[in-house]
Amino acid sequence: MYDVNAVRADFPILSRQVNNRPLVYLDNGASAQKPKVVIDAITTAYSHEYANVHRGLHTLSNLATEKYEAVRGIVARFLNAPSEDEIVFTSGTTEGINLISYAWAAPRLQPGDEIVLSVMEHHANIVPWHFLRERQGVVLKWVEVDAKGDLDPQAVIDAIGPRTKLVAITQMSNVTGTVVDVARICAAAREKGVPVLVDGSQGAVHMPVDVSAMGCDFYAITGHKLYGPSGSGAMFIAKERMAEMRPFLGGGDMIREVGRDFVSYNDAPMKFEAGTPGIVQQIGMGVALNYLMGIGMDKIAAHEQSLRDHARAKLAGLNWLTVQGNSDTKGAIFSFTLQGAAHAHDISTILDKRGIAVRAGTHCAMPLMEHMGVGATCRASFGMYNTLEEVDKLVDALEFCHELFG
Ligand code: ALA
Repeated sequence: MYDVNAVRADFPILSRQVNNRPLVYLDNGASAQKPKVVIDAITTAYSHEYANVHRGLHTLSNLATEKYEAVRGIVARFLNAPSEDEIVFTSGTTEGINLISYAWAAPRLQPGDEIVLSVMEHHANIVPWHFLRERQGVVLKWVEVDAKGDLDPQAVIDAIGPRTKLVAITQMSNVTGTVVDVARICAAAREKGVPVLVDGSQGAVHMPVDVSAMGCDFYAITGHKLYGPSGSGAMFIAKERMAEMRPFLGGGDMIREVGRDFVSYNDAPMKFEAGTPGIVQQIGMGVALNYLMGIGMDKIAAHEQSLRDHARAKLAGLNWLTVQGNSDTKGAIFSFTLQGAAHAHDISTILDKRGIAVRAGTHCAMPLMEHMGVGATCRASFGMYNTLEEVDKLVDALEFCHELFG
């Protein structure tokens, strides 16, 4: 039994008011709020356990290193990765995908080689590939989504040709909540010998993830959407792919030896982690992932499905509102536009006056916005602590907007 009120009690910010109304936080797609266990872990780390990691032999450095390194195992458990040695810490998905673009793809791809991606990727899973298009003539092959917002896995598989060197695909759209059958894509790509990178920024937040069963080569997560600190994240990299990678950023920690005319590198995964990392951020992410696993991602997913179903039914009753991309299997993320003059930014401002936080704009997904033929949308993205009553508050506020602009 999922007790949403008990979950809400774990998040201090949810008891605050915004504009004299109880906060209704529906901007989880952008960043999620933090449970007290995470906030306390950050305070404890800085108050009692802080020093740099991997460097000192003193008590605090050893303690911080132990806590920080333990997170690799937590991430591996959360993703069901075969080994914690296949987990590279990053500052988030953006850094993770740039790492793969620079360290794995750039040295391997030749002019005319192809990367298959969908039109509903976040810019973080587009721009690092544009770098390769601009700098070395790599071709980006775009797969469309259908009118309902679904991405047919077979269309992705069919786009894989003899020159395809990588498929880079999201597990869940940050704009429409569309969920992609990435396991099917991975299985087919594997048969063709093409690695797959899965952007799990949204997917990992809303459903149980098993990278071993999925069969992907790369899987990116970002801590701040997973109820952890900003600046935390990780990339699962299958060991065969990791062995093919050159180093990314150069500096301390990623080296073994440095001389005037030579340098040698640390073993993976540390070979890909230069400089003082986000020590406390990653420790906080580990606590957040343990918190999620303690509750159970399956239970969280089931709760969010009830939010999705309720929101879908209520929004369908508003004949002046268009939900952009309303796939049957989507998660609890709704992007919508209102007919008439109301701009997404105006709607968002009016909702904010009622304490309701949503995002308005292009959501770092301009190719998808262009595909859907909309300039900007309002996006309500739900999380583990949202309630059916909050869906109703959103709908009431939208009715108010309609009356105002209608
Ligand atoms: N990727 C974040 C979003 O979708 C910032 O809002």
